[in-house]
Amino acid sequence: AADGSSFTRQTGLTFYDPGFVNTAATRSAITYIDGDAGILRYRGYDIADLAKNSTYLEVAWLLIYGELPTPAELAEFDEKIRRHTLLHEDLKQFFSALPHTAHPMSMLSAAVSALSTYYEDSLDPHDPEAVEISTIRLLAKLPVIAAYAHKKAIGQAFMFPDNSLSFVENFLKLNFGTFAEPYEVNPVLVQALDRLLILHEDHEQNASTSTVRLVGSTEANIFASISAGIHALSGPLHGGANEAVLNMLGDIRGSGESVQKFIERVKNKERGVKLMGFGHRVYKNFDPRARVVKESADEVLKDLGVSDPLLDIARELEQAALADDYFVERKLYPNIDFYTGVIYKAMGFPTRMFTVLFAIGRLPGWIAQWREANTDPGTKIGRPQQVYTGPPARPWPTSR
Ligand code: ACO
Repeated sequence: AADGSSFTRQTGLTFYDPGFVNTAATRSAITYIDGDAGILRYRGYDIADLAKNSTYLEVAWLLIYGELPTPAELAEFDEKIRRHTLLHEDLKQFFSALPHTAHPMSMLSAAVSALSTYYEDSLDPHDPEAVEISTIRLLAKLPVIAAYAHKKAIGQAFMFPDNSLSFVENFLKLNFGTFAEPYEVNPVLVQALDRLLILHEDHEQNASTSTVRLVGSTEANIFASISAGIHALSGPLHGGANEAVLNMLGDIRGSGESVQKFIERVKNKERGVKLMGFGHRVYKNFDPRARVVKESADEVLKDLGVSDPLLDIARELEQAALADDYFVERKLYPNIDFYTGVIYKAMGFPTRMFTVLFAIGRLPGWIAQWREANTDPGTKIGRPQQVYTGPPARPWPTSR
């Protein structure tokens, strides 16, 4: 219409769909979710099977290249990633410019963005070799950047990657090793962290993945796209929920009455009070990842000999919520984030690192989705419509 309020375009009708609840913005062959049945599959493989039998890098290959790797392919992939773990010394100086109080997610996103400045000759999204080497660089360097963000926050010296170690072992050493004494990698932590990373690797068109695809649709480079995805993940309604859950459990201060009081505050919809780690846009029955995480929480705490009162509060909160009509009617169940924080805490990670761990987990999914969009002839620059609600055309006031 002449007043600019029309919302039809040459393609026909436009639907107002806040949060894209009913709108598919892409086609994808990577991840399948049936939220009602609680099913999650990567490339057709069930998430529980992958978590039990596979490794982070094997699943990364599966997501990115479409099939499980042969042993030789996996060994070559692993070797390439080990060879690319070092950060340019100048990039290490980048951390000095940031305050030690900076949130590690902000440091992570900023450093990934800065990473692109070192590889300007291999950023062309149309050059398969450039995409390949960027894939390896991102997978190799993100954990190192993450560990440096951690070290920066606690004021310790950055460790060099130890390429004789596996991906997860190396990551743990980068975080918890010091120059003062040798670091023994605990195999229980390695297995538990590997499993958690697998569970996070992809989750179809969530907010951060959609962000990565949207930025990628402009033909911006993969580092820029992933950096934007990290920012999207940082929000408490998305990846930031794992940090928010631990803060919530801490705020509840004890079991029994205080748990009930908290539940009442949630039900009364007090501003800013939600049961963090509960509810999901897609899972309205249960989150299959949450089951595996809950088992892992029990195993890790038992193996480490840690008894954490926060785990008791979490269990009590879960039971109270699952028996309460408010949560049952709205189909609110624990999501993956409800128990992950308790495990990360037992491993020794500070709360502010939790979402960073999610980002490392999600990286292969972001890369796979970016690459899929980048080679799909159906991809167009993302450009949602809007429903204009402002004033109609009006004359410029002559009295001004
Ligand atoms: N606590 C209390 N009430 C909730 C919660 C919660 N965690 N989640 C949803 N609700 C309520 C809503 O208030 C709404 O109630 P109403 O119908 O009376 O208005 C109803 O349940 C439906 O919720 P929506 O917000 O419409 O659901 P949506 O699909 O848009 O949101 C989301 C999903 C963002 C995950 C939401 O459940 C939430 O905020 N959960 C807490 C944060 C969290 O754990 N995020 C992690 C998600 S998983 C991930 O990113 C890995």
